[in-house]
Amino acid sequence: MKIITTPEAMRAWSEAQRRHPDIRIGFAPTMGALHEGHLCLVRAAVHENDVAVASIFVNPTQFAPNEDFDEYPRPFDDDLAKLEAEKVEVVYAPTAADMYSEGYATYVTVEGVSNGLCGASRPHFFRGVATVVSKLFNAVKPHRAYFGQKDAQQCAVIERMVRDLDMGIEIVTLPTVREPDGLAMSSRNKYLNAEDREKALCLSKALFHAETLLRNGERNPDVLISVVRDMMQDVTIDYVELVDSATMAPVDTVAGPVTLAAAIVLPTARLIDNVRFDPGAQQT
Ligand code: PAF
Repeated sequence: MKIITTPEAMRAWSEAQRRHPDIRIGFAPTMGALHEGHLCLVRAAVHENDVAVASIFVNPTQFAPNEDFDEYPRPFDDDLAKLEAEKVEVVYAPTAADMYSEGYATYVTVEGVSNGLCGASRPHFFRGVATVVSKLFNAVKPHRAYFGQKDAQQCAVIERMVRDLDMGIEIVTLPTVREPDGLAMSSRNKYLNAEDREKALCLSKALFHAETLLRNGERNPDVLISVVRDMMQDVTIDYVELVDSATMAPVDTVAGPVTLAAAIVLPTARLIDNVRFDPGAQQT
């Protein structure tokens, strides 16, 4: 497994691969602190492509000054061992100085889809994500890139960006990976103390309950949202919304694919989760 640390060296490696017309590059971008959710993305990148790259970069531009950039876990050697075991060809791990050099001034803003949900409480976030993902794509030059459904709005932002900027990269979204009790896997789960870990369970439980109602025919967003809110009375709710899965705009009824998304703020961590529902795909 090669470790590449500069955009120039990464691009040179990818350009050499792309000289072979049959070779497909799969890419799993991460901020490290890898858990099973990341490893599912990495495995798909390895198995569905000829060569696979995973990146590890804790991106400063997607953290606000009051957020957890400094505390964000960075178990680099453990992460490398996990990626080696998955048979990734290249780990791309640039430094912040290489990614954002002196005088850095260019940002990618994806309008509309970035505005609600997490974008409302973290207004800097999707600009940072879209910018860094564009830069990673420019260096890695993947044919396919893999993201997790847990970050549903991030997936929608990246899909929109790839289409709008003609990037020609296939975006693959894989299902959320959960702990046995339902909690969605996240690098930030490490922050939870025992009390908050217990309280956090209401998030997935409430969403699963609403998903069952959706499957059973409930189509009223107000009903679905209040069911979720009622089941999360012991925690601080950032948002609960029913949105169109592609645009992330709130819906009045469930006519196409929708995402029921929620965020809660516990004393030790802010957590997000969601369920998707497509009435057109429902078995009769
Ligand atoms: O989902 C993440 O881990 C990050 O937001 C990403 C896509 C690697 C960009 O920093």
